[in-house]
Amino acid sequence: MVYRVAERLQAPRGTFDVLPDDSERREAVESAARRVLGGAGYRRIETPAFEATELFARGVGDSTDIVQKEMYTFEDGGGRSLTLRPEGTAPICRAYAEHGMHRLPQPVKLWYLGSFFRYERAQAGRYRQFWQVGAEAIGSDDPAVDAESILLLATLLDELDVREVRLRIGSLGSPDSRVAYRERLVAHLRAHEEELAEEVRVRIDLNPLRAFDSDHPGTREVMREAPRMIDALSPQDAEHFAAVRAMLDAAGQPYEVDPTLVRGLDYYTRTVFELTSDALGAQSGVGGGGRYDGLVEQLGGRQAPGMGWAAGVERILLAAGEQPVAAPEVDLFVAVDGGDGARTAAFAVAAEGRRARMHAQLELAGRSLKGQLKQAARVRARYVAVVGDTSSALRDMDTGEQTDVETETIVARILRERGLGA
Ligand code: HAM
Repeated sequence: MVYRVAERLQAPRGTFDVLPDDSERREAVESAARRVLGGAGYRRIETPAFEATELFARGVGDSTDIVQKEMYTFEDGGGRSLTLRPEGTAPICRAYAEHGMHRLPQPVKLWYLGSFFRYERAQAGRYRQFWQVGAEAIGSDDPAVDAESILLLATLLDELDVREVRLRIGSLGSPDSRVAYRERLVAHLRAHEEELAEEVRVRIDLNPLRAFDSDHPGTREVMREAPRMIDALSPQDAEHFAAVRAMLDAAGQPYEVDPTLVRGLDYYTRTVFELTSDALGAQSGVGGGGRYDGLVEQLGGRQAPGMGWAAGVERILLAAGEQPVAAPEVDLFVAVDGGDGARTAAFAVAAEGRRARMHAQLELAGRSLKGQLKQAARVRARYVAVVGDTSSALRDMDTGEQTDVETETIVARILRERGLGA
Protein backbone atom coordinates (compact mmCIF):
# COMPACT_ATOMS: atom_id res chain seq x y z
CA MET A 1 0.00 0.00 0.00
CA VAL A 2 1.39 3.41 -0.98
CA TYR A 3 0.39 6.42 1.08
CA ARG A 4 0.40 9.84 -0.49
CA VAL A 5 2.53 12.07 1.66
CA ALA A 6 0.68 15.22 2.58
CA GLU A 7 2.37 18.47 1.64
CA ARG A 8 4.19 19.93 4.63
CA LEU A 9 2.55 23.12 5.84
CA GLN A 10 4.54 26.25 6.56
CA ALA A 11 4.03 29.43 8.55
CA PRO A 12 2.54 32.21 6.38
CA ARG A 13 4.90 34.46 4.44
CA GLY A 14 6.32 37.27 6.54
CA THR A 15 5.74 35.43 9.82
CA PHE A 16 8.09 33.30 11.88
CA ASP A 17 8.12 30.89 14.77
CA VAL A 18 9.81 31.94 17.96
CA LEU A 19 11.71 28.77 18.85
CA PRO A 20 12.98 28.13 22.39
CA ASP A 21 16.52 29.31 21.53
CA ASP A 22 15.09 32.59 20.18
CA SER A 23 12.68 33.07 23.03
CA GLU A 24 15.51 33.37 25.56
CA ARG A 25 16.97 36.37 23.72
CA ARG A 26 13.53 37.90 23.45
CA GLU A 27 13.03 37.50 27.17
CA ALA A 28 16.20 39.55 27.66
CA VAL A 29 14.51 42.39 25.74
CA GLU A 30 11.45 42.08 27.91
CA SER A 31 13.34 42.14 31.17
CA ALA A 32 15.50 45.07 30.07
CA ALA A 33 12.30 46.96 29.14
CA ARG A 34 10.78 46.16 32.51
CA ARG A 35 13.91 47.39 34.26
CA VAL A 36 14.45 50.58 32.24
CA LEU A 37 10.82 51.63 31.79
CA GLY A 38 9.55 50.31 35.12
CA GLY A 39 12.38 52.17 36.81
CA ALA A 40 11.15 55.42 35.26
CA GLY A 41 7.60 54.86 36.51
CA TYR A 42 6.07 53.35 33.38
CA ARG A 43 3.54 50.58 34.02
CA ARG A 44 2.66 47.82 31.61
CA ILE A 45 -0.54 47.86 29.58
CA GLU A 46 -2.04 45.31 27.20
CA THR A 47 -4.69 46.12 24.65
CA PRO A 48 -6.52 43.68 22.35
CA ALA A 49 -4.85 42.25 19.25
CA PHE A 50 -7.74 43.58 17.16
CA GLU A 51 -9.70 46.79 17.31
CA ALA A 52 -12.51 48.53 15.42
CA THR A 53 -11.08 49.46 12.00
CA GLU A 54 -12.21 53.04 12.55
CA LEU A 55 -9.70 53.46 15.38
CA PHE A 56 -6.79 53.20 12.96
CA ALA A 57 -8.53 55.03 10.12
CA ARG A 58 -9.07 58.00 12.46
CA GLY A 59 -5.95 57.61 14.61
CA VAL A 60 -3.17 56.60 12.22
CA GLY A 61 -4.74 58.50 9.31
CA ASP A 62 -6.56 57.62 6.09
CA SER A 63 -3.75 58.87 3.88
CA THR A 64 -0.99 56.73 5.40
CA ASP A 65 0.45 53.59 3.78
CA ILE A 66 -0.53 51.68 6.90
CA VAL A 67 -4.24 52.43 6.54
CA GLN A 68 -4.31 52.45 2.75
CA LYS A 69 -2.58 49.18 2.07
CA GLU A 70 -1.13 47.44 5.08
CA MET A 71 -4.00 46.57 7.39
CA TYR A 72 -5.37 43.10 8.00
CA THR A 73 -9.05 44.00 8.07
CA PHE A 74 -11.90 41.55 8.34
CA GLU A 75 -15.54 41.39 9.21
CA ASP A 76 -16.53 39.33 12.21
CA GLY A 77 -19.64 37.16 12.55
CA GLY A 78 -21.60 40.18 13.73
CA GLY A 79 -20.76 42.23 10.63
CA ARG A 80 -18.31 44.59 12.43
CA SER A 81 -15.19 45.71 10.63
CA LEU A 82 -12.17 44.80 12.74
CA THR A 83 -8.44 45.20 12.12
CA LEU A 84 -5.43 43.38 13.56
CA ARG A 85 -3.54 46.20 15.26
CA PRO A 86 -0.81 47.63 13.01
CA GLU A 87 0.54 49.79 15.87
CA GLY A 88 -0.03 50.50 19.54
CA THR A 89 -0.41 54.23 20.07
CA ALA A 90 -3.98 54.65 18.84
CA PRO A 91 -5.20 51.68 20.94
CA ILE A 92 -3.50 53.07 24.05
CA CYS A 93 -5.05 56.51 23.51
CA ARG A 94 -8.41 54.78 23.11
CA ALA A 95 -7.81 52.96 26.40
CA TYR A 96 -6.73 56.22 28.10
CA ALA A 97 -10.03 57.87 27.12
CA GLU A 98 -12.18 54.79 27.67
CA HIS A 99 -10.94 54.23 31.22
CA GLY A 100 -10.95 57.89 32.26
CA MET A 101 -7.19 57.89 32.85
CA HIS A 102 -7.22 61.69 32.81
CA ARG A 103 -8.33 61.36 36.45
CA LEU A 104 -5.02 59.72 37.39
CA PRO A 105 -1.90 61.74 38.22
CA GLN A 106 -0.54 62.99 34.87
CA PRO A 107 1.26 62.07 32.77
CA VAL A 108 0.07 58.48 32.72
CA LYS A 109 3.15 56.46 31.74
CA LEU A 110 2.53 53.13 30.04
CA TRP A 111 4.68 50.52 28.33
CA TYR A 112 3.82 47.54 26.19
CA LEU A 113 5.27 44.56 24.41
CA GLY A 114 3.22 42.62 21.92
CA SER A 115 2.75 41.62 18.33
CA PHE A 116 1.53 43.87 15.55
CA PHE A 117 0.44 43.16 12.00
CA ARG A 118 1.13 44.92 8.72
CA TYR A 119 0.75 43.58 5.22
CA GLU A 120 4.19 44.71 4.02
CA ARG A 121 6.66 43.32 1.54
CA ALA A 122 8.42 40.71 3.63
CA GLN A 123 12.22 40.88 3.81
CA ALA A 124 14.98 40.71 6.41
CA GLY A 125 13.87 42.87 9.33
CA ARG A 126 10.42 43.43 7.87
CA TYR A 127 7.64 41.04 8.74
CA ARG A 128 3.88 40.81 8.59
CA GLN A 129 3.62 39.88 12.22
CA PHE A 130 6.30 41.55 14.30
CA TRP A 131 6.81 42.51 17.92
CA GLN A 132 7.16 45.99 19.32
CA VAL A 133 8.21 47.22 22.71
CA GLY A 134 6.80 50.69 23.26
CA ALA A 135 6.25 53.45 25.79
CA GLU A 136 3.65 56.20 25.90
CA ALA A 137 3.34 59.14 28.34
CA ILE A 138 -0.06 60.81 28.11
CA GLY A 139 -1.23 63.99 29.82
CA SER A 140 1.69 66.44 29.79
CA ASP A 141 3.18 68.64 27.09
CA ASP A 142 6.32 69.39 29.10
CA PRO A 143 9.41 69.11 26.85
CA ALA A 144 11.01 67.04 29.64
CA VAL A 145 8.54 64.28 28.74
CA ASP A 146 9.88 64.28 25.17
CA ALA A 147 13.53 64.28 26.20
CA GLU A 148 12.98 61.61 28.87
CA SER A 149 11.05 59.38 26.48
CA ILE A 150 13.78 59.59 23.84
CA LEU A 151 16.47 58.89 26.42
CA LEU A 152 14.63 55.85 27.72
CA LEU A 153 14.68 54.26 24.27
CA ALA A 154 18.36 55.16 23.84
CA THR A 155 19.10 53.60 27.26
CA LEU A 156 17.14 50.46 26.45
CA LEU A 157 19.03 49.97 23.18
CA ASP A 158 22.29 50.62 24.97
CA GLU A 159 21.51 48.04 27.67
CA LEU A 160 20.77 45.50 24.97
CA ASP A 161 24.05 46.25 23.19
CA VAL A 162 22.39 47.43 19.98
CA ARG A 163 25.29 48.46 17.78
CA GLU A 164 26.01 51.63 15.78
CA VAL A 165 22.95 53.53 16.93
CA ARG A 166 22.16 57.00 15.61
CA LEU A 167 19.46 59.33 16.89
CA ARG A 168 17.75 61.82 14.59
CA ILE A 169 15.22 64.31 15.84
CA GLY A 170 12.97 66.89 14.23
CA SER A 171 9.85 68.93 14.87
CA LEU A 172 6.65 68.95 12.87
CA GLY A 173 5.17 71.91 14.74
CA SER A 174 1.54 72.08 15.79
CA PRO A 175 -1.40 71.69 13.43
CA ASP A 176 -1.95 75.47 13.09
CA SER A 177 1.54 76.24 11.86
CA ARG A 178 1.44 73.12 9.73
CA VAL A 179 -1.57 74.30 7.69
CA ALA A 180 0.28 77.32 6.34
CA TYR A 181 3.43 75.29 5.78
CA ARG A 182 1.54 72.55 3.98
CA GLU A 183 0.17 75.07 1.49
CA ARG A 184 3.68 76.25 0.67
CA LEU A 185 4.91 72.67 0.31
CA VAL A 186 2.01 71.70 -1.98
CA ALA A 187 2.71 74.78 -4.14
CA HIS A 188 6.37 73.76 -4.41
CA LEU A 189 5.43 70.19 -5.39
CA ARG A 190 2.87 71.41 -7.94
CA ALA A 191 5.50 73.66 -9.51
CA HIS A 192 7.74 70.61 -10.05
CA GLU A 193 5.10 68.01 -10.73
CA GLU A 194 6.73 66.46 -13.82
CA GLU A 195 9.95 65.71 -11.95
CA LEU A 196 8.20 63.78 -9.16
CA ALA A 197 7.67 60.03 -8.79
CA GLU A 198 4.19 58.91 -9.81
CA GLU A 199 3.51 57.73 -6.26
CA VAL A 200 4.36 61.15 -4.81
CA ARG A 201 2.42 63.02 -7.52
CA VAL A 202 -0.86 61.26 -6.82
CA ARG A 203 -0.54 62.06 -3.14
CA ILE A 204 0.41 65.73 -3.34
CA ASP A 205 -2.82 66.85 -1.73
CA LEU A 206 -3.36 63.82 0.43
CA ASN A 207 0.02 63.59 2.11
CA PRO A 208 2.62 66.04 0.76
CA LEU A 209 5.06 65.52 3.66
CA ARG A 210 5.70 61.95 2.56
CA ALA A 211 7.55 63.32 -0.47
CA PHE A 212 10.50 63.79 1.92
CA ASP A 213 10.64 60.02 2.33
CA SER A 214 10.90 59.15 -1.36
CA ASP A 215 13.94 57.36 -2.82
CA HIS A 216 13.12 58.50 -6.35
CA PRO A 217 16.07 60.61 -7.67
CA GLY A 218 13.89 63.28 -9.34
CA THR A 219 11.79 63.65 -6.21
CA ARG A 220 14.86 63.88 -4.01
CA GLU A 221 16.19 66.68 -6.20
CA VAL A 222 12.90 68.59 -5.90
CA MET A 223 12.83 68.06 -2.13
CA ARG A 224 16.28 69.55 -1.72
CA GLU A 225 14.79 72.95 -2.50
CA ALA A 226 11.48 72.36 -0.72
CA PRO A 227 10.41 74.59 2.18
CA ARG A 228 11.15 72.85 5.49
CA MET A 229 8.77 72.59 8.42
CA ILE A 230 11.55 73.18 10.87
CA ASP A 231 12.00 76.72 9.45
CA ALA A 232 8.27 77.37 9.72
CA LEU A 233 7.74 76.53 13.40
CA SER A 234 5.69 78.94 15.52
CA PRO A 235 7.67 80.63 18.31
CA GLN A 236 6.08 78.28 20.90
CA ASP A 237 6.92 75.18 18.87
CA ALA A 238 10.47 76.40 18.27
CA GLU A 239 10.86 77.01 22.01
CA HIS A 240 9.57 73.54 22.81
CA PHE A 241 12.01 71.98 20.34
CA ALA A 242 14.91 74.01 21.76
CA ALA A 243 14.02 72.86 25.28
CA VAL A 244 13.99 69.20 24.21
CA ARG A 245 17.39 69.61 22.57
CA ALA A 246 18.82 71.41 25.61
CA MET A 247 17.78 68.51 27.84
CA LEU A 248 19.26 65.90 25.51
CA ASP A 249 22.46 67.96 25.50
CA ALA A 250 22.43 68.18 29.29
CA ALA A 251 22.07 64.41 29.51
CA GLY A 252 25.00 63.92 27.12
CA GLN A 253 22.86 62.20 24.50
CA PRO A 254 24.22 62.71 20.97
CA TYR A 255 21.71 63.36 18.16
CA GLU A 256 21.39 64.96 14.75
CA VAL A 257 18.64 67.41 13.89
CA ASP A 258 17.01 66.15 10.71
CA PRO A 259 14.82 68.86 9.17
CA THR A 260 13.25 66.39 6.75
CA LEU A 261 12.33 63.71 9.28
CA VAL A 262 8.77 62.61 8.61
CA ARG A 263 7.14 59.50 9.99
CA GLY A 264 4.65 57.14 8.46
CA LEU A 265 1.80 57.99 10.82
CA ASP A 266 -0.40 61.10 10.74
CA TYR A 267 -0.85 61.79 14.43
CA TYR A 268 2.49 63.46 15.13
CA THR A 269 2.85 67.04 16.35
CA ARG A 270 6.01 68.82 17.47
CA THR A 271 8.84 66.39 18.35
CA VAL A 272 9.52 63.39 16.14
CA PHE A 273 12.53 61.09 16.36
CA GLU A 274 14.04 57.93 15.02
CA LEU A 275 16.83 55.64 16.19
CA THR A 276 18.57 53.72 13.46
CA SER A 277 21.36 51.18 13.53
CA ASP A 278 23.99 51.10 10.82
CA ALA A 279 24.43 47.43 11.69
CA LEU A 280 21.11 46.76 9.94
CA GLY A 281 20.62 46.72 6.18
CA ALA A 282 17.86 48.53 4.32
CA GLN A 283 15.46 48.35 7.25
CA SER A 284 17.67 50.41 9.53
CA GLY A 285 14.94 51.85 11.74
CA VAL A 286 15.16 50.25 15.16
CA GLY A 287 12.63 52.49 16.84
CA GLY A 288 10.92 55.82 16.58
CA GLY A 289 8.12 57.97 17.80
CA GLY A 290 7.18 61.45 18.80
CA ARG A 291 4.54 63.68 20.27
CA TYR A 292 0.84 63.33 19.40
CA ASP A 293 -0.96 66.18 21.15
CA GLY A 294 -4.25 65.83 19.26
CA LEU A 295 -4.70 62.07 19.13
CA VAL A 296 -6.74 61.39 22.27
CA GLU A 297 -9.19 64.12 21.31
CA GLN A 298 -9.36 62.84 17.75
CA LEU A 299 -10.49 59.52 19.15
CA GLY A 300 -13.30 61.14 21.12
CA GLY A 301 -11.53 61.65 24.47
CA ARG A 302 -10.82 64.97 26.17
CA GLN A 303 -7.79 66.83 24.94
CA ALA A 304 -4.61 65.24 26.32
CA PRO A 305 -1.11 65.64 24.88
CA GLY A 306 0.99 62.53 24.46
CA MET A 307 4.52 61.41 23.65
CA GLY A 308 5.98 57.99 23.00
CA TRP A 309 7.81 55.50 20.83
CA ALA A 310 7.94 51.93 19.68
CA ALA A 311 10.89 49.76 18.70
CA GLY A 312 10.86 46.51 16.75
CA VAL A 313 11.96 43.57 18.89
CA GLU A 314 13.28 41.63 15.86
CA ARG A 315 15.27 44.65 14.69
CA ILE A 316 16.70 45.14 18.18
CA LEU A 317 17.87 41.53 18.16
CA LEU A 318 19.26 41.76 14.63
CA ALA A 319 21.22 44.88 15.55
CA ALA A 320 22.35 43.53 18.91
CA GLY A 321 24.39 40.69 17.43
CA GLU A 322 25.08 37.58 19.45
CA GLN A 323 24.72 37.76 23.17
CA PRO A 324 25.42 34.94 25.57
CA VAL A 325 22.24 33.72 27.15
CA ALA A 326 22.51 32.11 30.56
CA ALA A 327 21.09 28.60 30.57
CA PRO A 328 18.30 28.15 33.08
CA GLU A 329 19.47 26.60 36.32
CA VAL A 330 18.42 23.06 37.15
CA ASP A 331 18.64 22.16 40.84
CA LEU A 332 17.70 18.53 40.57
CA PHE A 333 17.54 15.89 37.84
CA VAL A 334 15.61 12.81 38.91
CA ALA A 335 16.87 9.65 37.19
CA VAL A 336 15.21 6.23 37.38
CA ASP A 337 17.09 3.00 37.97
CA GLY A 338 14.44 0.32 38.32
CA GLY A 339 10.94 -0.71 37.40
CA ASP A 340 7.48 0.81 37.74
CA GLY A 341 7.87 1.36 41.49
CA ALA A 342 11.05 3.38 40.94
CA ARG A 343 9.40 5.46 38.20
CA THR A 344 6.49 6.38 40.43
CA ALA A 345 8.81 7.15 43.33
CA ALA A 346 10.98 9.33 41.03
CA PHE A 347 7.89 11.19 39.89
CA ALA A 348 7.02 11.91 43.52
CA VAL A 349 10.57 13.17 44.24
CA ALA A 350 10.42 15.64 41.32
CA ALA A 351 6.96 16.82 42.40
CA GLU A 352 8.18 17.34 45.99
CA GLY A 353 11.22 19.22 44.73
CA ARG A 354 9.06 21.57 42.70
CA ARG A 355 6.78 22.17 45.65
CA ALA A 356 9.93 23.21 47.53
CA ARG A 357 10.59 25.69 44.67
CA MET A 358 13.42 23.72 43.11
CA HIS A 359 13.92 23.61 39.37
CA ALA A 360 13.50 19.89 38.93
CA GLN A 361 13.56 17.78 35.78
CA LEU A 362 12.41 14.21 35.47
CA GLU A 363 13.58 11.51 33.08
CA LEU A 364 10.83 11.29 30.45
CA ALA A 365 12.33 9.36 27.56
CA GLY A 366 13.14 5.93 29.04
CA ARG A 367 16.90 6.40 28.66
CA SER A 368 19.43 3.97 30.11
CA LEU A 369 20.97 5.07 33.40
CA LYS A 370 24.08 6.15 31.51
CA GLY A 371 21.93 8.16 29.09
CA GLN A 372 20.11 9.78 31.99
CA LEU A 373 23.35 10.87 33.64
CA LYS A 374 24.46 12.34 30.33
CA GLN A 375 21.18 14.22 30.05
CA ALA A 376 21.59 15.52 33.61
CA ALA A 377 25.04 16.84 32.69
CA ARG A 378 23.66 18.40 29.49
CA VAL A 379 21.06 20.43 31.40
CA ARG A 380 23.76 21.21 34.00
CA ALA A 381 21.83 19.86 36.95
CA ARG A 382 23.34 20.67 40.36
CA TYR A 383 22.16 17.34 41.90
CA VAL A 384 21.10 14.05 40.39
CA ALA A 385 18.87 11.67 42.33
CA VAL A 386 19.04 8.09 41.07
CA VAL A 387 15.81 6.53 42.32
CA GLY A 388 15.66 2.74 42.50
CA ASP A 389 12.95 0.26 43.49
CA THR A 390 14.21 -0.09 47.04
CA SER A 391 17.01 2.44 47.52
CA SER A 392 18.27 5.64 45.95
CA ALA A 393 21.47 7.64 45.58
CA LEU A 394 22.11 11.35 45.47
CA ARG A 395 25.00 12.74 43.47
CA ASP A 396 26.38 16.24 43.92
CA MET A 397 27.42 17.19 40.41
CA ASP A 398 29.79 19.91 41.63
CA THR A 399 31.87 17.61 43.82
CA GLY A 400 31.07 14.29 42.08
CA GLU A 401 30.30 12.83 45.51
CA GLN A 402 27.56 10.19 45.62
CA THR A 403 25.72 8.97 48.75
CA ASP A 404 23.09 6.33 49.28
CA VAL A 405 19.91 7.87 50.64
CA GLU A 406 16.35 6.98 51.51
CA THR A 407 14.15 8.06 48.61
CA GLU A 408 11.80 10.07 50.86
CA THR A 409 14.66 12.14 52.26
CA ILE A 410 16.16 13.32 48.94
CA VAL A 411 14.52 16.73 48.76
CA ALA A 412 15.05 17.46 52.46
CA ARG A 413 18.76 16.56 52.14
CA ILE A 414 19.29 18.91 49.23
CA LEU A 415 17.54 21.73 51.07
CA ARG A 416 19.69 21.07 54.14
CA GLU A 417 22.92 20.98 52.15
CA ARG A 418 22.04 24.26 50.52
CA GLY A 419 21.16 25.82 53.86
CA LEU A 420 17.50 26.08 52.93
CA GLY A 421 16.09 23.30 55.06
CA ALA A 422 14.24 23.50 58.35
P1 HAM B 1 6.68 52.80 13.50
O1 HAM B 1 7.85 53.63 13.11
O2 HAM B 1 5.67 52.49 12.47
O3 HAM B 1 6.00 53.56 14.70
O4 HAM B 1 7.20 51.44 14.11
C1 HAM B 1 8.15 51.44 15.16
C2 HAM B 1 9.16 50.34 14.97
O5 HAM B 1 8.51 49.08 14.77
C3 HAM B 1 10.03 50.50 13.73
O6 HAM B 1 11.11 51.36 13.99
C4 HAM B 1 10.50 49.08 13.50
O7 HAM B 1 11.59 48.76 14.33
C5 HAM B 1 9.31 48.25 13.94
N1 HAM B 1 8.52 47.82 12.77
C6 HAM B 1 7.57 48.50 12.11
N2 HAM B 1 7.09 47.77 11.08
C7 HAM B 1 7.74 46.59 11.10
C8 HAM B 1 7.71 45.41 10.30
N3 HAM B 1 6.86 45.27 9.30
N4 HAM B 1 8.56 44.39 10.62
C9 HAM B 1 9.41 44.50 11.67
N5 HAM B 1 9.49 45.59 12.45
C10 HAM B 1 8.67 46.63 12.18
C11 HAM B 1 4.90 53.14 15.38
O8 HAM B 1 4.42 52.05 15.27
C12 HAM B 1 4.39 54.15 16.38
N6 HAM B 1 3.21 53.57 17.08
C13 HAM B 1 5.46 54.56 17.37
C14 HAM B 1 4.98 55.54 18.37
C15 HAM B 1 4.64 55.28 19.64
N7 HAM B 1 4.83 56.82 18.18
C16 HAM B 1 4.37 57.39 19.30
N8 HAM B 1 4.24 56.45 20.18
